[in-house]
Amino acid sequence: MLDLSLAIGHHLIIFALFGILAVELALLRDGITLDTVRRIGRIDIWYGILAGAILAIGFSRAIFAAKGWPYYSHNGFFWAKIATFATIALLSLPPTFRFIRWGRASAPPSSEDIRRAKVFLYTELVLFAPLLAFAAAMARGYGEMR
Ligand code: HEM
Repeated sequence: MLDLSLAIGHHLIIFALFGILAVELALLRDGITLDTVRRIGRIDIWYGILAGAILAIGFSRAIFAAKGWPYYSHNGFFWAKIATFATIALLSLPPTFRFIRWGRASAPPSSEDIRRAKVFLYTELVLFAPLLAFAAAMARGYGEMR
């Protein structure tokens, strides 16, 4: 039951995180108003909260759920997944700092500022593809390093 509950939570939060990334990308356009900039800043707080929840639930699954920590700690795809997740987390920092700065400014960001922030967001989005592939591989026992 614990395994099932954590798996359901893991998937739901992952979909929510994708949703937030998509909303940020959709709202971040040329001609954006200060109101929308501040809205993105508020939405971005949820990105951080959900990323933290994924980390907590993910490690709970790895340690307490069905297969146990020895299964994952000896799996190369597990570590590739964690490294990709860490990279995504680092890539999310520059846009977050920009959203905070823009929210305090008296004028909306320039097109160039918006373009730069979007490069980070799109790179995060692209990295979810290998992350999902690593997740599927590790769940099926590929990449065992015993
Ligand atoms: C946004 C980041 C993440 C995504 C998109 C993601 C995605 C997935 C997916 C799709 C599965 C199901 C794999 C399958 O059954 O085929 C899964 C399982 C799992 N994930 Fe994540 N995950 C993420 C972050 C994490 C983190 C940070 C951890 C931390 C340890 C973690 C630990 C696990 C574990 C333990 C499983 C169970 C695998 C199994 O059934 O053996 N995940 N993840």
